[in-house]
Amino acid sequence: MSRLLVTGGAGFIGSNFVHHVVAHTDHHVTVLDKLTYAGNLASLEGLPADRVAFVQGDIADPALVDDLFGGVDAVVHYAAESHNDNSLNDPRPFLDTNIIGTYTLLEAARKHGTRLHHISTDEVYGDLELDDPERFTESTPYNPSSPYSSTKAGSDLLVRAWVRSFGVQATISNCSNNYGPYQHIEKFIPRQITNVIRGIRPKLYGAGENVRDWIHADDHSSAVLTILDKGVIGQTYLIGADGEKNNKDVVELILTLMGQDADAYDHVTDRAGHDLRYAIDSTKLRTELGWQPAYRDFEAGLGATIDWYRANEDWWAPAKDATEAFYAAKGQ
Ligand code: NAD
Ligand code: DAU
Repeated sequence: MSRLLVTGGAGFIGSNFVHHVVAHTDHHVTVLDKLTYAGNLASLEGLPADRVAFVQGDIADPALVDDLFGGVDAVVHYAAESHNDNSLNDPRPFLDTNIIGTYTLLEAARKHGTRLHHISTDEVYGDLELDDPERFTESTPYNPSSPYSSTKAGSDLLVRAWVRSFGVQATISNCSNNYGPYQHIEKFIPRQITNVIRGIRPKLYGAGENVRDWIHADDHSSAVLTILDKGVIGQTYLIGADGEKNNKDVVELILTLMGQDADAYDHVTDRAGHDLRYAIDSTKLRTELGWQPAYRDFEAGLGATIDWYRANEDWWAPAKDATEAFYAAKGQ
């Protein structure tokens, strides 16, 4: 049995990973999470107290991080400021958490010799043209567009430098867009689902031609566990499930699945610097580590996600008015 520290474990993907670890391994998990607006302890409800411990704190707090690294075998680092639109509004927290927070963890990993897996995003590679036959691979040059993605790119480069210069035992994964239960309603899919539940028309940025490569959060978690078990130190693995869809098609599918007219949405002000298309080639992860996604039917996964938001209004309702007010102020 191993003892894992999971940073950001009260967020969308981190909490999914904690549930996944409890269900599929005998590891003990300590969650370190600051509980920002994006963290929610309700996402960890139902987990056994003898398998999961929770510590509220900041990954950029060196004394706390040093103390926690002393008691674990490996760290899986999800904690981040994660939303592009927020990073356009106020970049500073992205620098504090994504850069200084990751640096703080790396220094503790260096001191304690702790295995670290760093969770990152395909956005570090910038974007692709709609008709580009290429997809992102582990050797695609970094070319981030937003304050969010540039701080994630910076954190990846810090990890690479700490591996090479100090021998830190780290791996990195860069994943495409996740969907599923427990995602904050500021994000595209849950925002539109909860809009329809509330009788608000969904909001599509610009023409809606932008393409995202959707993967279910459960598949992201199984991939991370695979890398933790079998990944080669110093290596980067791209995680994706061949799920490219443009935003217009996704919003129309949400409306149809929720019994509305497919065109009952509004086009709103586009995101500044809006990346056009992301697409992941996950051949390395599949061939070298033997991982495969379990979710291959996006419509079925989206339908189950809609059911979850309908059944769990208590989880998301407290954030809805403030989230919509934030967007309304920007014409979105
Ligand atoms: P999220 O915003 O839902 O959750 C982030 C969590 O980190 C929250 O619980 C928050 O309280 C915590 N946190 C923030 N700052 C912290 C700090 N300084 N110290 C401790 N905890 C802090 O994000 P998410 O969508 O679950 O993303 C998790 C990770 O996965 C991020 O690193 C993100 O870059 C990466 N990622 C996300 C996606 C996606 O589609 N959501 C895709 C690829 C990669
Ligand atoms: O690709 C991985 C990334 O995916 C992660 O690194 C980020 O943490 C995660 O937030 C996500 O980034 P995106 O910016 O792609 O996700 P978001 O849900 O904000 O938007 C998805 C697409 O939908 C994007 O093209 C913008 C568009 N959009 C978004 C919102 C909130 C809309 O059209 N309308 C909306 O209301």
